[in-house]
Amino acid sequence: MKDLHCHLLPALDDGAQTFADTEEMLKTAAASGIGVIAATSHYSPEMEPVYEGTWAKAGELAGKYHIRLLRGTEYDLEYIADVPKEKLRPVEGTKYLLVDMNRNYIVHAMTNLFFELKLAGFQIIFAHPERMLPLRELKVLLKLLEENAILIQMDSGSIVGRYGEQARSNARYLLDRGGCHFLGNDAHKAGHFMFRECRAILEKRYGQGLFELLTEENPSALLTGGEINPSPQRKSFWERFFRRES
Ligand SMILES: [Fe+2]
Repeated sequence: MKDLHCHLLPALDDGAQTFADTEEMLKTAAASGIGVIAATSHYSPEMEPVYEGTWAKAGELAGKYHIRLLRGTEYDLEYIADVPKEKLRPVEGTKYLLVDMNRNYIVHAMTNLFFELKLAGFQIIFAHPERMLPLRELKVLLKLLEENAILIQMDSGSIVGRYGEQARSNARYLLDRGGCHFLGNDAHKAGHFMFRECRAILEKRYGQGLFELLTEENPSALLTGGEINPSPQRKSFWERFFRRES
């Protein structure tokens, strides 16, 4: 399994604070079957000069647990324009850039940013849209993301209810309608790796294949330049009924 969203680098953001925290997170991740993690610390001007050294040290630690650690950063859309384009850090040198949104950010102002980033050669991955807005506003945001060909990464914590009922029901809505590309743990500490619980929930409601698409096939395609496919819409009651009967 590959997790493209993680805050395990110590003292760069609100995730791990020491290398002991990092090691505990790596140990938990390895035990849950994760073999690749992108170290996507929240961007700040202060983290920038120390990122590379911290990543290299954490990468050695990750090797101990047979985990490949990728570079990356999570950018708040509200501040991404402050960072020169050539300084942006997409996932492991690919074109894929992880962004998230401040709750109060004006959705309509995003279109320009999306356009600018696309023009600079980036493909945006929008992190956990299900966590931020009530369903009515989420639907507007999803339409905007779709129109701009933005990829979507959901948080495992939303699916298992870690962020409350709104995020959980939004996550179900998003998975039912299809159009999701990645599942990440967005782990800030060891207890946040929830792929196992997610797998059980997804297999029960959507059958086999969806979890693998979001945690293995699409992340692998991202790293190898392959095709990234959106999750399919959930089959209707009758489709599922007749499939069971046949
Ligand atoms: Fe995050």
